[in-house]
Amino acid sequence: MSANSNQPVTPFQPPLRLLMGPGPSDVHPRVLSAMARPTIGHLDPAFVGMMDEVKNLLQYAFRTTNDLTLAISGPGSAGMEACFVNLVEPGDTVVVCINGVFGNRMKENVERCGATAVVVEEPWGKPVDLARAEAALTAHPGAKALAFVHAETSTGVESDAAGLCALATRHGALSIVDTVTSLGGIPVQVDRWGADAVYSGSQKCLSCTPGLSPATFSPRAVEVVKTRKTKVQSWFLDLSLLIAYWGGGAKRAYHHTAPVNALYGLHESLVMLREEGLEAAWGRHAHMHRALKAGLEAMGLNLLVDEAARLPQLNAVLVPEGIDEAAVRAQLLARYGLEIGAGLGTLAGKVWRIGLMGQSATPRHVIACLGALESVLTGMGAPIPPGAGTAAASSVLF
Ligand SMILES: Cc1ncc(COP(=O)(O)O)c(C=O)c1O
Repeated sequence: MSANSNQPVTPFQPPLRLLMGPGPSDVHPRVLSAMARPTIGHLDPAFVGMMDEVKNLLQYAFRTTNDLTLAISGPGSAGMEACFVNLVEPGDTVVVCINGVFGNRMKENVERCGATAVVVEEPWGKPVDLARAEAALTAHPGAKALAFVHAETSTGVESDAAGLCALATRHGALSIVDTVTSLGGIPVQVDRWGADAVYSGSQKCLSCTPGLSPATFSPRAVEVVKTRKTKVQSWFLDLSLLIAYWGGGAKRAYHHTAPVNALYGLHESLVMLREEGLEAAWGRHAHMHRALKAGLEAMGLNLLVDEAARLPQLNAVLVPEGIDEAAVRAQLLARYGLEIGAGLGTLAGKVWRIGLMGQSATPRHVIACLGALESVLTGMGAPIPPGAGTAAASSVLF
């Protein structure tokens, strides 16, 4: 018995927040109430039917006809790991593009598979350079794969996924693409890109709760998995076993107990995406970004990333000289219940990361964020013209 066993235990009641950081984003009540529906068996025919719908809806979201399209039972990191452990074998070489935190994680994955990572590194805040990626593929003709992050959440940068996947195909390499922050927010076109292994996360622009990783694999990638020389070192993430689970239809074979209620939530968030329409969702994210940017600029604040590579859903804002960035975030949270993100790695202390993802990409969020920022920064002595941010944003919004 612990020393505290006599203390009363109460249900956890989370505070109400506006989630405008790098994820999770706000979850719609429709998704939360879907998750509260009765749990049924994961091999129940009704549940199997719902999983088939999740697969179809994910094919829609990824713009793919790939048969092996599924939600991996684990967060985005599990999707990342699934791609590497299945496609990469000991002794392989993989070209990894790194322009932020998540490219670094890809390199870690390659090395843990017993393979060699050839790194193409870019300064944080810049997209992957196609010419340098091509030079690495040319210098390593047998490279098994080219891996990159489409939307780098640590910096707010978009890289040219179509161009990078085309390079991989031209050099006979597979492409492994991180779309954790891009899926549902900006165009992800798996078939048009010719991408081979693509994973995402439930908690960003899809606005579901964290913990599931949508993923899709091309027939070429599936063939590589089937003809491996060695066993996949992870039993849980071995696609050859997961295929029988997600692809088996009525004959679905037990692999692991699916996170039943989490999948209800993902199903609902994908239904909502389908109702809105993918293009409309992309348009909404772009529109909210333009409004936020207008507001920030009217307040004298600047974005880190050049316009051409800027992600609408993740805005890295330069912290003005003399302002304590952590104190601003703390006050936003304490006073307004508003969460924004800190800079990571080389950008720690230098930027804030403001997310406009999924259900957090609305006029309500843009205006609340600008108003709260104005109030906190003004209190710290920053020269912000009163009302300028929200006025500029409103003129873009309406
Ligand atoms: C680009 C990117 N890749 C991978 C991940 C890892 O996802 P998770 O935290 O869900 O494991 C994240 C999470 O923020 C991400 O932004």
